[in-house]
Amino acid sequence: MRTGRWVRAIEDRAISTHDLRRIARRRLPRAVFDAVDGGAGDERTLRANEAAYERLWLRPRALADAKTRDLRTTVLGTPVSMPVMLSPCGFARMCDSQAELAVARAAARAGTVFAVSGASSYPLEEVAAAAPGPQWYQLYMAKARAETDALLDRVEAAGYPVLCVTIDSPVSPTRERDFHNRLTVPLKPSPRLLVEGMSRPAWSLDFLLGGPGASPADTLGLAQARVAYWNLARTVTDMTVVTWDDIVWLRERWKGPLVLKGVQRGDEVPRIADLGVDAVIVSNHGARNLDGTRATVEVLPEVVDAAAGRMEVYLDGGIRRGADVLRALALGARACFVGRPYMFALAAAGEQGVDHVLSIFRAELEKGMALTGCSRLADIDGSLLERRPAAEPAGMR
Ligand SMILES: Cc1cc2nc3c(=O)[nH]c(=O)nc-3n(C[C@H](O)[C@H](O)[C@H](O)COP(=O)(O)O)c2cc1C
Repeated sequence: MRTGRWVRAIEDRAISTHDLRRIARRRLPRAVFDAVDGGAGDERTLRANEAAYERLWLRPRALADAKTRDLRTTVLGTPVSMPVMLSPCGFARMCDSQAELAVARAAARAGTVFAVSGASSYPLEEVAAAAPGPQWYQLYMAKARAETDALLDRVEAAGYPVLCVTIDSPVSPTRERDFHNRLTVPLKPSPRLLVEGMSRPAWSLDFLLGGPGASPADTLGLAQARVAYWNLARTVTDMTVVTWDDIVWLRERWKGPLVLKGVQRGDEVPRIADLGVDAVIVSNHGARNLDGTRATVEVLPEVVDAAAGRMEVYLDGGIRRGADVLRALALGARACFVGRPYMFALAAAGEQGVDHVLSIFRAELEKGMALTGCSRLADIDGSLLERRPAAEPAGMR
């Protein structure tokens, strides 16, 4: 944990996810910041994911009694304190040495789901043991079923109740910022990274040694984590296509709830439901794989319609405000996931940063509900929205 009297509390420095991103930008080497921030190709989808929310204007209800607000809900039967969960993001160690362990603890404190990445920098067993959950496991299927089968034995033994399969990553993507920064994942020491690291000494110290005050045991633990990180990276760069047959096999193999992450069109949703899948996440992988896909919040209504109540529908991509969560719920999402906001919070202030970003989403959503006349999540419906062009940026007027 980052402590010390000279460090101003993150609560005093950041009131929004945008502040946390700015702080992360100052703390991380440029190449690492870009690796989290960037998207595929021309980054049109990256911009679209966020911009789409600007076209969804709110129609507050007057005179509704929303003196108290209840943000609680359930996802696949598990109670959560709010409809904001943490997306699986690989290699969180790029942001902070405690990485997924810190995220797991913060999510548990907040009473929400953390979906642990199949490319987690710590072994899945250690993340599961770090906090009581609720945690889900995000699976990248291996090329050989036997390998996936063995991995699922570990996932079961570690006690993950829900399996979330990512279906949108058949090949490793091209992210041009990474190319220009000569960035490889996992991070390989290079003269360039060394120079960038020197300008970010706090990050470098934390990345290499676990930060000031780390005990030898911490350092040793980190050395092990680094090994896990290399091994996982090899698996992940060796990703495979997931097909309908794989989902049939997985449905047989995995006894608990099964979630598909990466659905981007409604017409395949009935078939997914027919296979016994329990929920889908409308996601374009945070615009990190295929550029030119639609903003996720624009895809959401057709998926909700097609699911017709047979599966829960969640959304991720571009959510930066509690009011964005409110918009997604108004369009029929049961809950949302966020990715970059918590990765930047982790980079900005470690575990306290993740606590803080979750409290920002909670406070903003609660205020949004108060101001639109909603005392329960069930009060959030389509009547709260009108689709109109976004406002002109200030400088254009
Ligand atoms: C740095 C980073 C790493 C990610 N790693 C994974 C991953 O390992 N597995 C996965 O399914 N999605 C991964 N994603 C995608 C997220 O799960 C999520 O879909 C996306 O971040 C949501 O968009 P947002 O960042 O705009 O909130 C990653 C995203 C980021 C930013």
